[in-house]
Amino acid sequence: MNVLVVGGGAREHALCAAVARSKNATLFSVMSNLNPGIEQLAKEFLVTKETNVDVVTQFAVSRKADLVLVGPEAPLEAGIVDSLRKAGIASCAPSKAAARIETNKEWMRNLLQRYQIPGQLAFEVVTNAQDAKAFIERLHGEVAIKPIGLTGGKGVRVAGDHFNGTQEALAYITEVIEKKIGGAAKVLLEEKAVGEEFTLQAFSDGEHLAPLPAVQDHKRLLPDDQGPNTGGMGSYSCVDGLLPFLREGEYKEGLHILELIVLALKKEGHPYIGPIYGQFMLTHSDVKLIEVNARFGDPEAMNVLPLLQTDFLEVCSAMLSQTLEKTPLSLAKKSTVCKYVVPEGYGVKSMSGYPITVDEQAIQSLGDLVFYASVNKKNHDIVTGTSRAVAVVGIADTIDSAEKQCEAGLSYIHGEHLFVRHDIGTRPLLERRSTHMQKIRGKP
Ligand code: GLY
Repeated sequence: MNVLVVGGGAREHALCAAVARSKNATLFSVMSNLNPGIEQLAKEFLVTKETNVDVVTQFAVSRKADLVLVGPEAPLEAGIVDSLRKAGIASCAPSKAAARIETNKEWMRNLLQRYQIPGQLAFEVVTNAQDAKAFIERLHGEVAIKPIGLTGGKGVRVAGDHFNGTQEALAYITEVIEKKIGGAAKVLLEEKAVGEEFTLQAFSDGEHLAPLPAVQDHKRLLPDDQGPNTGGMGSYSCVDGLLPFLREGEYKEGLHILELIVLALKKEGHPYIGPIYGQFMLTHSDVKLIEVNARFGDPEAMNVLPLLQTDFLEVCSAMLSQTLEKTPLSLAKKSTVCKYVVPEGYGVKSMSGYPITVDEQAIQSLGDLVFYASVNKKNHDIVTGTSRAVAVVGIADTIDSAEKQCEAGLSYIHGEHLFVRHDIGTRPLLERRSTHMQKIRGKP
């Protein structure tokens, strides 16, 4: 089976590794950077802009692709799945219309409202800052401000974390509208959800979901959740599929919300095939939906894909033939900790273009996995880009061992101007999360 993976980041490297582990798979890749990990696995690759739908489709046709997997959201928004479908090629990824669940936050909130799906937050969409004032004051300033469209995870600002008071909120709303951040002169205002965040990813065949272990990502750049928002500095998952602060019933609440969304999309005439990602906030009252992504998360894909023992392409076939319900997923019972090596200044102004050395053999001999992200192979050097560079994943029976293993692996990565958020997966941070949630649960 010829499989084309679109995307050149660490999530896509993990997708390629899962394809390469499958029986009878021949891997092709389209990526915007020359990812050395994907290069090692693929029979052939094309370095081009991943949103260039016609070029990607032509490459898929010419290489007789039987299946296309799409890592990032931008090609989904550009209509890659629709274009491939016209060329007779199947994708385990949503159409442009179904992907609006991620690419248009206003549409997502309206869908939840139309189908009365739980987990909804109070929201309002405004096209000028003055109209936002009443909503902000009604919520005593406790709001989140979100551009409508894609911003690479960096456009959301939350009261208390990124701004304080109505004036600062209005200033950012004005900026989003004037600069059309996220592609529209509009802003989504939401009630601020307070609690602990978790990610739930699942495979969808348009009706049924096959869920994966819960993961917690770390969006802020610096230890103790300080600094600017990033695409995600690292993540962990636990052997029981839950998180130290997350109970089984709460995980199931999140899953139920995703199931209802998939059913709503089917009713809307946009069946959702592919991996789906829910970002949830566990609050004092219930589970709230913060965002839906029409793809695997990055870094969260790297916590779950390596655990998959069922042949990945069998899971893809089950998504396409709507037989996921009859295809039980087998997952290794392990904890995982993933930490990203990023260029110094990432999230503000990256110091990019520096060589980085990765002793893959030494890392793998520890039992760790290494996934390349926004780096470029130039001659025999690997050079950092402006985004995240390399991820190391420790896999072990306990989260503590996985964290230690991940740190041991990181010691084999060298280069100038690199940064790692070392607190991810450590005992003090996990305890802080649990204590925070205990306090939240105690609130009336
Ligand atoms: N980890 C967040 C995302 O993939 O969007």
